[in-house]
Amino acid sequence: MTKYKIAILAGDGIGPEIMKEGVKVLKVIEERNDVEFEMIEAPFGAGAWFSEGSSFPEATKRLVDEADAVVKGPIGLNHEESKKIPVDQQPERGALLPMRKRLNTYANFRPVYLPKSLGHFSPLKPEVIGDGIDMIMVRELVGGLYFGEKETGINESGKRYVREVLEYDEDQIKNILHQGFKLAQNRKKVLHNIHKSNVLKSSVLWNEVLDDVATEYPDVEVVHTLVDAAATALCLNPGQFDVMVMENMFGDILSDQGGGILGSLGLMPSACLGENGKAYYEPSHGSAPDIAGKNIANPYSMIGSMAMMLEYSFGMVEEARNVWDAMQSVFAAGYSTADLSKPGSGVNMISTDVFGDKVVEHLRANA
Ligand code: IPM
Ligand code: MG
Repeated sequence: MTKYKIAILAGDGIGPEIMKEGVKVLKVIEERNDVEFEMIEAPFGAGAWFSEGSSFPEATKRLVDEADAVVKGPIGLNHEESKKIPVDQQPERGALLPMRKRLNTYANFRPVYLPKSLGHFSPLKPEVIGDGIDMIMVRELVGGLYFGEKETGINESGKRYVREVLEYDEDQIKNILHQGFKLAQNRKKVLHNIHKSNVLKSSVLWNEVLDDVATEYPDVEVVHTLVDAAATALCLNPGQFDVMVMENMFGDILSDQGGGILGSLGLMPSACLGENGKAYYEPSHGSAPDIAGKNIANPYSMIGSMAMMLEYSFGMVEEARNVWDAMQSVFAAGYSTADLSKPGSGVNMISTDVFGDKVVEHLRANA
């Protein structure tokens, strides 16, 4: 029996309710495999700030350090509520970015996937979707503007100013590019390199490093695309993309657009991977405080993030596949949560917990 310790950080807003559905799924996996999941919940995010006085409490830090994997729900509050928390303790700056740095999860994999049969979820026309949408965005996660030096003050002309630095060294770039190339090698052997080298020096260095790294992957074709052009191409011809690699900020923006072309950010799970097995798993979207507690959020992104954990952290590739298939079966049977079942869409709307129950049913049927 293999024992895994999983830190469960439910987070804010819809976090706890979608986490609950993910945990149901993990229990099924545990029942029928020779594994034991020790799931330990810990406070993290805005809620933790209000209850513990810290958005990333010391005990939670110790837990994520010793856990075999971490699953994390979305964090954050609406704009007004956020303002009640000191700027540096707001959960994005006070908890999420410190956790990324602490675990050094530099590689963020964000699958953007919609089979042709579910094309009606997407705002794109069937002829644009073609055979379906299937790509992975590989986002650098611990460098760039997010982590560069920041300074605010009054300049010589008496004006308020701000300075934020976009900094990468060649090793950071190399590491994420290797991840992109390896993934491309295992898929269609095409790597879309997303950059802005016509303006940013950081992209010029990025591309120089890419030329070096590319020599180790002669079987992978590199396609260079400027980030702004990539944004358009995602809407006009998403089928051209398979593996896309990019720096932190570009990845933040384009991955939300990825959710947009699928029809919902609720379809965006992610894996955040570091060295030596360090990893955490989270939906790519926010905590949607406006719909929290209503049992209408889509738990797909959370359950999908757990499927990624099964694959990447525990090597349970087949069970990960079964979880994906179970979720697709729920959709195929004509059900979805509110985000994807607009009136007239022909989709039967179900609640968060019923979605989870149906995933569990399909998963059990599929043992
Ligand atoms: C994401 C989120 C985070 C980010 C926020 C919550 C800080 O938008 O994971 O994409 O910007 O990285
Ligand atoms: Mg984002």
